[in-house]
Amino acid sequence: MKKVLALSLALAMSLSLAACGGDSSSAASGSGSGSASGSVASDGAQKVGIAMPTQSLERWNRDGSYLDEQFKAAGYETIVTYSDNDTNRQVSDIQNMIAEGVDLLVVAAIDGEALNTVMNEAGEAGIPIIAYDRLIMNDNVSYYVSFDNYTVGTLQGQYIVEALDLENQAGPFNIEFTAGDPADNNAPYFFNGAVDQLQPYIDEGKLVVVSGQTEFDAVATAAWESQTAMERAQNILASYYADGTQLDAWLCSNDSTSLGVTQAIQSDYAGANKADIVITGQDGDVANLKNIKDGLQSMTVYKAVANEAVVTLDLAKAILNGDTIDDTLITNSAWDFECTYDTESYATSEGHNCPSFLLVPDVVTADNMQEKLVDTGYYTVGDDGYLVVPESNS
Ligand code: BGC
Repeated sequence: MKKVLALSLALAMSLSLAACGGDSSSAASGSGSGSASGSVASDGAQKVGIAMPTQSLERWNRDGSYLDEQFKAAGYETIVTYSDNDTNRQVSDIQNMIAEGVDLLVVAAIDGEALNTVMNEAGEAGIPIIAYDRLIMNDNVSYYVSFDNYTVGTLQGQYIVEALDLENQAGPFNIEFTAGDPADNNAPYFFNGAVDQLQPYIDEGKLVVVSGQTEFDAVATAAWESQTAMERAQNILASYYADGTQLDAWLCSNDSTSLGVTQAIQSDYAGANKADIVITGQDGDVANLKNIKDGLQSMTVYKAVANEAVVTLDLAKAILNGDTIDDTLITNSAWDFECTYDTESYATSEGHNCPSFLLVPDVVTADNMQEKLVDTGYYTVGDDGYLVVPESNS
């Protein structure tokens, strides 16, 4: 319950500040908005544009509704869009927000390289931009809020190392890789974080990538689509494992790709050890939590997107107040989750580092699901015994 209580506390505080109206940190007061140029709505509220990539990948629905709820509760007007994983549509969605006079943009990009024109337009209009979860390669981006993406991969890689006991077992063990969308700046971070853990064992010959597909470009999954991941996995199983070669692990960068790979293994893998194959994931999507409970997926890296929204809201308030932004945002906050201020790791262009607030991801397995996800209030247990997202966050 701790995190949820902190969330409610943060919300309650935002509400009371907004209600007082006189506090300088109340963005809802409409008084002075730093570099923001958007118009103040007739009720005095400032407007925030929240651009999410798609509703077809589960987590963005959660992000969109957490952000919407929290900004509204703090007294802002919001415009929330989902762009169906279509970059042109995201560009026009953001252009509409600019035309609507938003005071600040929160953008989770579909393609981190493809928003240049619209980011320049926002910059020219003096609208501050927070890159949400995925970095956008444009210097008008003011700040980046995300989880530590490299650590997500590290946790997946370490999980495989421990599950196969690579330190002590002679092996060799067979493994395959599935990474994310090349258009998503996060995807190589996840992949490299994991491979850096596994590479020493590959070099030693204890881990063997039977397909030989080890480079990011060869194992990437356009748009993070489950179907695409499934078809590639089916091809690999047919080409390299149909003769009974044993598969021991499949590194999947997230849950949507893991879903596809798991399906392919269930339907097309010929070996006898199906139940023991180590499969990783990320996000805690409901379908994957079911697979984890049923023993079809081994783990997921959970990222509490409710907390990512809290950081985004507090950062947005500070930006709109014209406050100096640095690690005091963290030290002065009421957050009871970990977050670091990082000015080194992410750059929007060469030599132009983007100040980042990075939250800490966590490993969820069948054994700790109750403690990490249910006791914290992020999920509830449905009538069928599987985890569901509570009504208010879905
Ligand atoms: C997010 C992941 C998510 C993936 C696909 C990434 O940018 O960080 O949490 O699984 O996109 O939606």
